[in-house]
Amino acid sequence: MSSRLEFNTISRSYGDTEVLHQISLTVQPSRCVALLGASGSGKSTLLRIAAGLDEPSSGEVVVDGENLDGVPSEQRGVALVFQKPLLFPHLSVVDNVAFSARMAGQSRKVARDHAMAYLKLVKLADLAQRSSGRLSGGQEQRVALARALARNPRILLLDEPFSSLDSRLRDEMYSLMDDIRAELAPTIVLVTHDRREASVLADSIAVLDSGRILQHGPVAQLHYQPATLSVNRILGGLNAVPGNLADGVHHSALGRFPVQPGLRDGPAFLTVRQEAIRIIGPADGPATVTVTGIKSLGAHTLVHVASLGSRSSAETLTVEVPGDPGIRIGQHVGLQLVNTTGWAVTQ
Ligand SMILES: Nc1ncnc2c1ncn2[C@@H]1O[C@H](COP(=O)(O)OP(=O)(O)OP(=O)(O)O)[C@@H](O)[C@H]1O
Ligand SMILES: [Mg+2]
Repeated sequence: MSSRLEFNTISRSYGDTEVLHQISLTVQPSRCVALLGASGSGKSTLLRIAAGLDEPSSGEVVVDGENLDGVPSEQRGVALVFQKPLLFPHLSVVDNVAFSARMAGQSRKVARDHAMAYLKLVKLADLAQRSSGRLSGGQEQRVALARALARNPRILLLDEPFSSLDSRLRDEMYSLMDDIRAELAPTIVLVTHDRREASVLADSIAVLDSGRILQHGPVAQLHYQPATLSVNRILGGLNAVPGNLADGVHHSALGRFPVQPGLRDGPAFLTVRQEAIRIIGPADGPATVTVTGIKSLGAHTLVHVASLGSRSSAETLTVEVPGDPGIRIGQHVGLQLVNTTGWAVTQ
């Protein structure tokens, strides 16, 4: 299950509309890459192309060095799990999972024994004999996962498989995915529009926007070092303060913050995560700001601050602090970045 998947300059047009533009992405063996993007960004189209359910207009899909151009879907060794599980309702749970082994000519006993191993992995062995038309949504999705894994695919593609589950069931599925990765080490592409899901499950995130990959990198890099404002917005970083760069320091009405090296002097946005800022005494920071709003989220509090006298919403920041910070609206405070360096983007 641990193959290497490459998309090489994949484009796809429907009629005159190009929905994927020159997508290049490599998924290393046993890694999980999340394709994160809004509805219509082209996520499913890319998975369908990998699975052989759709063809690229140009470019190629390569698995372990083999170009899959012209290889029929069922011979690719690529399994796709959809948002809707699409089980055979007239078959039992175990026979759904045994289906592809039966199709490959295995005896019923061998195919069922093989299927049971995967049902144990997804913790559904107890329901093996139940009709698959009588399962909860979470159980159905476990069966769909077991069925995909039982095919022993080279690559596992997951197209928003957990999006219709409630948050508790989703967390259960996340821990199940950990078990599956520990046991079988499959190479996974996970499509999702949920940045939390991408961050929890994947090793790296590829942000897809209108058919283009804006950035692909480790989860922490996407959160803390977005390449552009668009990536920052899609990852929910939220703070993007306009200002100017000079000698590696970002200057804005909110103060002076050192940023990463290598950027040209000139206009730039300071992108800084809400939890990467600390509230300190008014005289201790690079600038004094006013607290303009406080919103308790239970275990955390969101504190909105603006530069003194600022009317521009662009010159406000949101800071997430643990617990109750014990401050009030109108109070003057200072700000400090938690890990000394900020991150600036110029577009
Ligand atoms: N068979 C088709 N014919 C024409 N246009 C299509 C076809 N399939 C997809 N598209 C278009 O391609 C674009 C990308 O669709 P795709 O299904 O890949 O998006 P997605 O990122 O998976 O969205 P969602 O999150 O809603 O599932 C959309 O604009 C869609 O309308
Ligand atoms: Mg889709």
